[in-house]
Amino acid sequence: MASKDVKDDTTTAAAKTERLFTRAEVAKHAGSKETWIIIHNNVYDVTTFLNEHPGGEEVLLEQNGQDATEPFEDIGHSSDARTLMESYKIGELIEEERTKDSEKRARDWSNGNAEEDNASRCCIVM
Ligand code: HEM
Repeated sequence: MASKDVKDDTTTAAAKTERLFTRAEVAKHAGSKETWIIIHNNVYDVTTFLNEHPGGEEVLLEQNGQDATEPFEDIGHSSDARTLMESYKIGELIEEERTKDSEKRARDWSNGNAEEDNASRCCIVM
């Protein structure tokens, strides 16, 4: 009984670390009261943001449980929007299920060929 003294307070530290989700786990939330969406491999709980979203709640509800990276980027959200979304982040996708969109961009750069400039030359005769 003397061992009762030992503190079991490790949960406080654990709560600070970000959670990892699978796409299936996020999708499951489409049936609950919460609205979770994936954007750039991050998971956001936008339940409390629905009413405040300048683009309306409907577009977010349509994306409930899904990866909304494309529609999010298509709209061309401002940097303010990108800062704002950080406060709704609840975690990230597990490594195996992440899309590699940033990698694709890096590859484009490394393949960048100076000669391509010539090919895209345009002549306008006045
Ligand atoms: C956490 C995620 C999101 C945040 C914080 C957010 C925030 C914002 C903000 C601040 C604006 C005002 C314009 C700007 O500053 O860019 C906006 C506009 C808009 N958003 Fe979002 N948004 C999010 C996700 C989405 C998603 C997933 C979609 C589409 C599926 C979407 C569709 C739109 C649309 C259609 C507008 C209106 C654009 C316009 O009227 O020109 N948003 N959003």
